[in-house]
Amino acid sequence: MVKAVVLGAAGGIGQPLALLLKANPLVTELGLYDIVNTPGVAADLSHIATPAKVEGYLPPDDGLKKVLTGADVVVIPAGVPRKPGMTRDDLFKINAGIVRDLATGIATAAPKAFVLVISNPVNSTVPIVAEVFKKHNVFDPKRLFGVTTLDVVRASTFVSEILNDLGLSKDIVVPVVGGHSGVTIVPLLSQSSHTLPSSLSTAQYDTLVNRIQFGGDEVVKAKDGAGSATLSMAYAGAEFAGKILRALKGEKGIIAPSYVSLLADTEGAAVLTKELGETVQFFSTPIELGTEGVVKINPLGKITEAEQTLIKAAIPELLKNIQTGVEFIAGAK
Ligand code: NAI
Repeated sequence: MVKAVVLGAAGGIGQPLALLLKANPLVTELGLYDIVNTPGVAADLSHIATPAKVEGYLPPDDGLKKVLTGADVVVIPAGVPRKPGMTRDDLFKINAGIVRDLATGIATAAPKAFVLVISNPVNSTVPIVAEVFKKHNVFDPKRLFGVTTLDVVRASTFVSEILNDLGLSKDIVVPVVGGHSGVTIVPLLSQSSHTLPSSLSTAQYDTLVNRIQFGGDEVVKAKDGAGSATLSMAYAGAEFAGKILRALKGEKGIIAPSYVSLLADTEGAAVLTKELGETVQFFSTPIELGTEGVVKINPLGKITEAEQTLIKAAIPELLKNIQTGVEFIAGAK
């Protein structure tokens, strides 16, 4: 029996993500929560002939507490998305408070749940959840995940475009490390499962890296004020949640990229810190999953000079983003 919960379930990401979770046979209960429209979304999904029993909740009558009770996996896509010209950090003012309040609800109603944070800026919202959990003495670094899967999905797609074989894209694995915004997104193309053509020029390499880092802007621009990536994000979120569900069921050796606290695996963190030459509290890297959450934080391994330069550019920005999140809670009275 696995209960999955989506907080922000009536939104652009929330609805298709809830649909994909409803379609996942590993989910037996699906709880949907939002400040609007969840009864309708739940009624609609409940007609799909898959095992999950669906229920929708709104804030009145302790809706948050009710939806979270018994939750094994909680996915958070609640909050506002970007409009053209905005960075993910511009969202902080609104989304930080939303994520803090939802994290407080989880800390009291489902402190053992695996928490998957989609709300941006992920680099800061994950530290916010960690700080809230610490305040409630329920922080387990192995169970908190920032969802960076979309960066990996985009990297696979863009590399397959360069290889001129879109059919390959699902098999192409490119580790994307660092964080989830602009220059903090660092694709390790030298470790791609499918080698890039040797004819790729430096300019073409730079264009590819830039596209992976700023791919989200393409969608924001094309949607022209109507939001940011929702469908590709729902796909990516369901991919990641699907791996978490399989790991919970006992499947071993599952690797997924995620933005996690380095406290989740101190041995792995020590190697990573040495590679980075800097102490960071949170970092995105391929992690191994198990029934208790993070089993292992994988090191970067062998990377090129160009990738080293990207990492150097990412770290100061990442440290700033983490600090912003930590201070939002730790600095609050
Ligand atoms: P949306 O505006 O379509 O949906 C957000 C939903 O959150 C709305 O239904 C809204 O009612 C709900 N909400 C607001 N306050 C809430 C609260 N206190 N409790 C529960 N629900 C609440 O936005 P969209 O497009 O679904 O994006 C959601 C978030 O995901 C944004 O912060 C966006 O930046 C982020 N995002 C993250 C990505 C990633 O790769 N991690 C990729 C794309 C978007």
